[in-house]
Amino acid sequence: MSDARISLTVDGTQIQALEGQSVIQACDAAGVYVPRLCYHPDLPPAGHCRVCSCRINGRINSACVTPVSQGMVVENDTPALNSDRRVIIEMLFVEGYHLCPTCEKSGDCELQALGYRLGMAAPTLPYLWPQRELDATHPEIVLDRNRCILCSRCIRASRYEDGKSVFGFEGRGIHMRLTVDGSALGDTAMAAADKAAHVCPVGCILIKRTGFRTPSGHHRFDKAPIGSDIEAVRSVPKT
Ligand code: SF4
Ligand code: SF4
Ligand code: FES
Repeated sequence: MSDARISLTVDGTQIQALEGQSVIQACDAAGVYVPRLCYHPDLPPAGHCRVCSCRINGRINSACVTPVSQGMVVENDTPALNSDRRVIIEMLFVEGYHLCPTCEKSGDCELQALGYRLGMAAPTLPYLWPQRELDATHPEIVLDRNRCILCSRCIRASRYEDGKSVFGFEGRGIHMRLTVDGSALGDTAMAAADKAAHVCPVGCILIKRTGFRTPSGHHRFDKAPIGSDIEAVRSVPKT
């Protein structure tokens, strides 16, 4: 990334960006929230989930993997794009096993919070109710694959931050599953202090003996909708 400043337009408002930034990085810095799931600011982007899809110079592209360019025109907060994002969120809900009232991630879960922010009511697609392997073999960490949305954050964190490559994917399409580098998580080099143990956007990777400690109503997204922290630093007035 260089210090060279360029300007682009997001939803009709001009913002400044650094050359080399992605669209989502530039929007974050300007206080414009682009919905996202697989993107994490500390990890290399993967472009998996497509929730951050924007219309960029007239074409639909993922904001997390598209570099900014001078004069770029970005549409982000439009009814059509938010409707597409809502459908993606809905598909992730029905494809996994998500019983929010019983989940210790409820209120801190990015999938749930995006459902609220994008106005998802009851899913209109049929639930698949998968039966995936739950792995409690690690002394400090539990892995509930039924809630995994295959975002790959844990894979990238383990590889690039922890230097371990504990996680991977196997299979394709609806049969894709999260795998571990061993017969079970307890056989791997995973530690509770690893970055990979703390980047999961949903309730799939959980630290044992810490669940349900925060009372209902005091979780991150109980207090403010997802994206509010980014919008709080908005440097340009909302149109
Ligand atoms: S992981 Fe999120 S969406 Fe899934 S059950 Fe838990 S709170 Fe609900
Ligand atoms: S375990 Fe969590 S971080 Fe890893 S791929 Fe599944 S949802 Fe993403
Ligand atoms: S956040 Fe950009 S593709 Fe997932």
